[in-house]
Amino acid sequence: MASIQQSGNQSRGQWSGRMGFILAAAGSAIGLGNIWRFPYSVAEGGGGLFVLIYLFFVLAIGLPVLLAELSLGRESRRNPVGAFKALIPGKMWPYVGGLGVLTGAGILAFYSVIAGWTLGYLGKAVSGTLVQAQDGETSGEIFNSFVADPFWPILLSGLFLLLTLFVVRGGVSKGIERATTLLMPALFVLLIAMAIRAVSLQGGMDGLIYLFTPDWSKLSLNVVMGALGQALFSLSLGMGAMITYGSYVSKRENLWKSGIFIATADTGIALLAGLIIFPTLFFANADPLAGPGLVFVVLPTIFNQMPLGTVFAGAFFSLLAIAALTSTVSLLEVVVAYFVDEKGWKRNQAAVAVSGFCFFLAVPSALAFGAAPAFSGGEGSILPFNLDFLTLNNNIWGNYSLSIGAFLICIGVAWVWGVPRFLAALEDGGDRTFPMPGREVTGFLVKIVCPLAVLIVLIFIVVTGQYF
Ligand code: PFF
Repeated sequence: MASIQQSGNQSRGQWSGRMGFILAAAGSAIGLGNIWRFPYSVAEGGGGLFVLIYLFFVLAIGLPVLLAELSLGRESRRNPVGAFKALIPGKMWPYVGGLGVLTGAGILAFYSVIAGWTLGYLGKAVSGTLVQAQDGETSGEIFNSFVADPFWPILLSGLFLLLTLFVVRGGVSKGIERATTLLMPALFVLLIAMAIRAVSLQGGMDGLIYLFTPDWSKLSLNVVMGALGQALFSLSLGMGAMITYGSYVSKRENLWKSGIFIATADTGIALLAGLIIFPTLFFANADPLAGPGLVFVVLPTIFNQMPLGTVFAGAFFSLLAIAALTSTVSLLEVVVAYFVDEKGWKRNQAAVAVSGFCFFLAVPSALAFGAAPAFSGGEGSILPFNLDFLTLNNNIWGNYSLSIGAFLICIGVAWVWGVPRFLAALEDGGDRTFPMPGREVTGFLVKIVCPLAVLIVLIFIVVTGQYF
């Protein structure tokens, strides 16, 4: 990834090899979305029902949009704005890329807060505080006292943005690429070990039933919207992250295989997280509706039940922080690539300015929990209504903006650029074809199913006014 420091078209860098791209793209996809956002969205969406709709969206929308974004990026070799300018005629299209750039900053501004929490929990894990949590109540207290004072959450989100900045500036990106080669598989193995322990806990089976049995009575527009947003968020789609990463991929790469691998790995890790959180939740008697705090409340109790719990907890939160870092890097990269390519800024300048700006935006989200009483609309509040910036940002940027972005990307790719050109770009560079039905189905999904499905959900939401 070091070579992506160059800008401009001819000198544009490429990944250091096949593994470089796959790992970076999988690293972008796999992150807090899988381990933090997926479980609490499942809990809010009624368990198995959410999982079912989510899986459907991953297959019907996520994978096709992923292939579309990667093709757009590789063919244009540009950032999202430049990609639209280069390939899709029409004055309005670069704005779709612009929406993606804005969304990247919007997501980074709350994502870094949660990433900061993982650093805080890493500290707690190493100091042995976490393994002391025997049930949901004690671990809930640990969490509440952590976020009650916003000092650490704010400081740690700043620290996380600083780490992201260092990587994007190019300093240690080679190291990150190399480190990911080892750390992603390590995260996977660790999650499997934790899942085995979780399922065998008392009450573990109830967790599994909850995770995999759809309760149709919970079906609502919000659940459908949440699952759609989650499928896009988890795969880093709808804002051009995969256009940007695709722009550094060589023609030798088989994008079909890459796309399928990324989607499978990402979904597998989310399901594994579910296999850990829900059995443990039932065991610890924790509150499933703890929202963004869910994972942080539930997880400590499993470490308490594991031999070498402190070691497991430390390893888990280190790996989670690294998984989050490879995602924040891709978020920042989208915004930086835009300023470098389109505005002629220096990479260093752009990275500093954007991450500084995102820190500024992150503060209200970090306060959302700690200073909740001040914004809660309740007693002692300075506002007459509840203003939870974290949830608000998560919804606006992480669900709506990504969905609108994915819709517009599909229209641009399939209707303006055209399915034949899209498939040709996808398979550019030699013998890269996919069996016939796969190509036809993908073209149909990108042209008809994805835009229509997203549009229907959005229209229903506007008509019924059930925004959140
Ligand atoms: N996919 C990341 C995750 O699941 O944690 C989050 C993300 C990264 C979303 C990059 C969007 C994006 F462009």
